[in-house]
Amino acid sequence: MEKTIVTSALPYINATPHLGNFVGSVLPADIYANYLRMKGEDVIFICGSDMHGTPIEVRAIKEKVNTEELAESLHKKAKELFQKFNCNFTYYGDTNSDQNMEITYQIFDALDKNGYIKEVQKELPYCNSDGIFLADRFIEGKCPVCGYEAARGDQCDKCSSLLEPKMLIEPHCTICGKKEIVFKKTTNLALDLKKLQPQIEAFFEKNAKANWSKNAVNEAQKYFNEGLKYRDISRNTKWGFSIPKKGFEDQVFYVWFDAPIGYIGITKEWDDLKWKEYWLSPDTRIIQFMGKDNIVFHTIIFPGMLIGSGLGYTLPKTIKSYEFLNWEGKKFSKSRHIGMDMEEALNIVQDPDYWRFALVLSAPENSDTDFTETGFVEAVNKIMNGKIGNLCQRVFTLINANKRMFDAKATPDPEISSRLDALVNEYTSYFDKLELREALRVVIEMSDLGNSLMSEKEPWLLAKAANYDNKAAAEFSVIMNALLKVAYTVSILMYPFIPNSSLRILKYFGINRAPVFADISSRPELDPTLEPKPIFEKLTDAQISKFRNFS
Ligand code: MF3
Ligand code: ZN
Repeated sequence: MEKTIVTSALPYINATPHLGNFVGSVLPADIYANYLRMKGEDVIFICGSDMHGTPIEVRAIKEKVNTEELAESLHKKAKELFQKFNCNFTYYGDTNSDQNMEITYQIFDALDKNGYIKEVQKELPYCNSDGIFLADRFIEGKCPVCGYEAARGDQCDKCSSLLEPKMLIEPHCTICGKKEIVFKKTTNLALDLKKLQPQIEAFFEKNAKANWSKNAVNEAQKYFNEGLKYRDISRNTKWGFSIPKKGFEDQVFYVWFDAPIGYIGITKEWDDLKWKEYWLSPDTRIIQFMGKDNIVFHTIIFPGMLIGSGLGYTLPKTIKSYEFLNWEGKKFSKSRHIGMDMEEALNIVQDPDYWRFALVLSAPENSDTDFTETGFVEAVNKIMNGKIGNLCQRVFTLINANKRMFDAKATPDPEISSRLDALVNEYTSYFDKLELREALRVVIEMSDLGNSLMSEKEPWLLAKAANYDNKAAAEFSVIMNALLKVAYTVSILMYPFIPNSSLRILKYFGINRAPVFADISSRPELDPTLEPKPIFEKLTDAQISKFRNFS
């Protein structure tokens, strides 16, 4: 059987992911992996913490703690948080493992042997007081163009001019605030993407049009048109995997070198034997989910690294890249207190399914979208609770209250059955095109079908009449069987999106495990011993006003 690896971009460990991060990578990857499991496919879902990079190192310096311990404890927290959101990883690892180091070194050595690693000379800002080289964002000074006082090493936020650290007037270090900056000459290592361009482009031609999101195709194309260049892969810092090459032992790999290799390293950490069956087999399909800021790394650099290594690693086939989610029309920003992170979200509404449901409905599939109070309230109260929850509860209650009348063997209305089948097909075809938001819309449409059938046929009147009217009794059973089938199908199909709620509803049908597609064709049987309870709750005013405080 073909194997599938689903990956989500590995979240940086230095900050708790916000809801925009979640909706653009881990959540859709999780949903899609659930869908494939439902189809009975051989799928692993791989994710983990991106442990390296300057921000976490700087944070550790500021907090005067050990970087590795800090990263490790944040990793534990992140892992728990994703679990609380019901993410069903095959394995959630991290990029700082022995396994990842081993594969990073293996790929680096191969690239070096094959002539794709070059030495480049640089002059980089160095803070004498902190004793470290400063990444662009940790050096600030006066903008040489507009005079803005707090321009960063790479850009002025006021006039948008692109800058180099050397251009800043009277620069200071943003870690310690001092002006003890000197420029030091250093030799770094770079990946020769120019040399790899023909091979990367061939990979692009083979996959992009059919299997990548449009924004990914366009961005990669733009890079090819400009011509690929060297990309630095080493940094003069301490936190990270040190470089296993003579003369460079004092440097570490740039975070974006070992992070994507992390997909492989984490799989190896999951299973020291099986990882090869996935990463070294021509029969594997790799599907990667990410936000648009990750595109170049996944469409060009990571494939380039794998190709250049010549080690036979399977190349990613599908790229699903999301646009950005905004918060009430503004960019998420921790420092300006705009938007919510995943932990804050659970402090307001505990059941992760409420977030998952509402987030998918606002997912930035083709353009940036907005997460708003109105949208959240509508998604939860009107749609999830008002349509899906309401349908299931009414159906269960009606049948339960009229058990004597209800013939569970009556054939459901065939017209409803065939409309249901059509919707199931629509659902799978959206999923297969990776349009998850549309697939969820189909589930909602299905509940609409049930709800309008309910108000049209008024089965509660039939139930009353059934006491003295056999025809009414028969009709009641035909309709209620159709409605039961709608509720049943809805609760199966919502599993990838809101797994807990799906499982809760499926219990009414005597199903106590994750559903599979084959379940859809079996006849639903309502467990008569279960007392129907509300499936969801509406958001309270208190919850809504807490939400509002984040805007
Ligand atoms: N940490 C990066 C981010 O949050 C994503 C890394 S993806 C990987 O944007 F491919 F490098 F793993
Ligand atoms: Zn400093």
